[in-house]
Amino acid sequence: MNTTDLKPTPAATLFLFGAHGDLAQRLLVPALYRLCRAGLLNPETRIVGVDHNEATDEAFRERIAQALRALASDPHAEGGGHALDHDCWCDFSPNIHYQTGDFLEDDTYAAIAQRLDEYGGNAIFYLGTAPRFFGPIVEHLAQAGLLREAQGAFRRVAVEKPFGIDLDSARALNATLRRHLEETQIYRVDHFAGKDAARNLAVYRFASGFVEPFWHRDFIDSVQISAVETLGVEGRGRFYEATGALRDMVQNHLLQLLALVAMEPPQGDTAADWQAAKTAAVAAIRCPKPAQAADDGVRGQYSAPPTGDGKAYRDEKNVESDSTVETYVALRLMLDTPRWQGVPFYLRTGKRLSRRATEIVIQFRQPQVPGVPTLPTPTRAILRLDPETLVLEWPLREPGPGNTLTCRQLALNVDEALGQRPGSGYETLLYGCLQGDATHFQSAQEVEAAWAAVAPFQAVWSQGTEPEFYHAGSDGPEGARTLIERDGRQWWEPAA
Ligand code: BG6
Repeated sequence: MNTTDLKPTPAATLFLFGAHGDLAQRLLVPALYRLCRAGLLNPETRIVGVDHNEATDEAFRERIAQALRALASDPHAEGGGHALDHDCWCDFSPNIHYQTGDFLEDDTYAAIAQRLDEYGGNAIFYLGTAPRFFGPIVEHLAQAGLLREAQGAFRRVAVEKPFGIDLDSARALNATLRRHLEETQIYRVDHFAGKDAARNLAVYRFASGFVEPFWHRDFIDSVQISAVETLGVEGRGRFYEATGALRDMVQNHLLQLLALVAMEPPQGDTAADWQAAKTAAVAAIRCPKPAQAADDGVRGQYSAPPTGDGKAYRDEKNVESDSTVETYVALRLMLDTPRWQGVPFYLRTGKRLSRRATEIVIQFRQPQVPGVPTLPTPTRAILRLDPETLVLEWPLREPGPGNTLTCRQLALNVDEALGQRPGSGYETLLYGCLQGDATHFQSAQEVEAAWAAVAPFQAVWSQGTEPEFYHAGSDGPEGARTLIERDGRQWWEPAA
């Protein structure tokens, strides 16, 4: 991690609600540990895990240590491959505590208040629980007087995704937050926005000078954004049954990437300018009529693979045997801005697919120049998030007197080029939240615009119809292929 020009964070106590879950143990606390290792975390930072399960401080620390050891032994994991730094762990771990408490009981908040009286100073309440608790936790924090800022100490609330389950619930949650907090105290999290590779989209577009002029409908034919996964729901059946792929991945992560691809340059250098530019891009997504939404959206669910060595979604733990929840979504979206008029954005995500990748594919228009033969397929730029790789398809002429064109790839593996693996994205987000910098967080308007963008699909899919089934381990439902092929285009897949 490059720390040049970065100040250590101010001292604060982070209360991690949902501390017994995977998010806190595998991502949040390890990200704080990495900030500590980089010398960016104030040594007075305290972490208090809050959850209803009984646990001691020691037991909670041991679970974090296990998560860090697991990361250390996995060089391919984001933030992985570094042995646990004994000295750093000795400094960091005594500041980790655990508070058993029900999110809906006043006692929990009395215990938090007592800790804050003892520790004093700044506090962040990080809500990494099931979404149904977000509003009630904020209400309880407010009732206990824990959100009031006094004597120069800040009180901030970070809210994970999914932020609500639809547009109405997102509006209601925003209203609850704003009833008790100033906008500057609210940090709406989408960890994709903190990923180094996602942040680099702006760098590639705006810092090089030669990319931005052709980042435009005159040169770009279409955009594909894919987040395909080999993993299934991994013991999260209950969460997934209430969520599905549209809410889990599309409304947030994929639209976050779309916003970074599609946004106009920000008007200024403040967090609000940056948030406004992203919000405008998401708000420009056209709202299709029901018939169009039915045509432009595909939802699938994985069935058992024909080989028999794997489960169907309906056979996963805590999943209904007749569940119609989608584990795959493909959408075709249009943006009404001068830059993107007429350029389709194809989005897809799914569980238990044949490969794991998060990619943005920019397909260029095919120029027609007299005397220069046309390539058999349009050229593309592929930006892969993990490992971060940039690929540019470049036209070449076969040597000799003929005029036969072919294409080869110019590829840059960014991690290799820089000699470092990026973190999970949470380092940037937690650092930003501690520093009071909301650049990589979302405004209320952006979250609501993202729900408005998926609402037409939610509406046509709310009839409880069967999703289209695809075999676990395949490339997804046939309908996703038809969705793009009817426009005369194809999903980009890496050469086998
Ligand atoms: C999470 C989703 O937000 O993002 C998961 O709940 C998904 O279902 C994950 O697997 C993907 O994120 P990453 O950082 O592992 O690509």
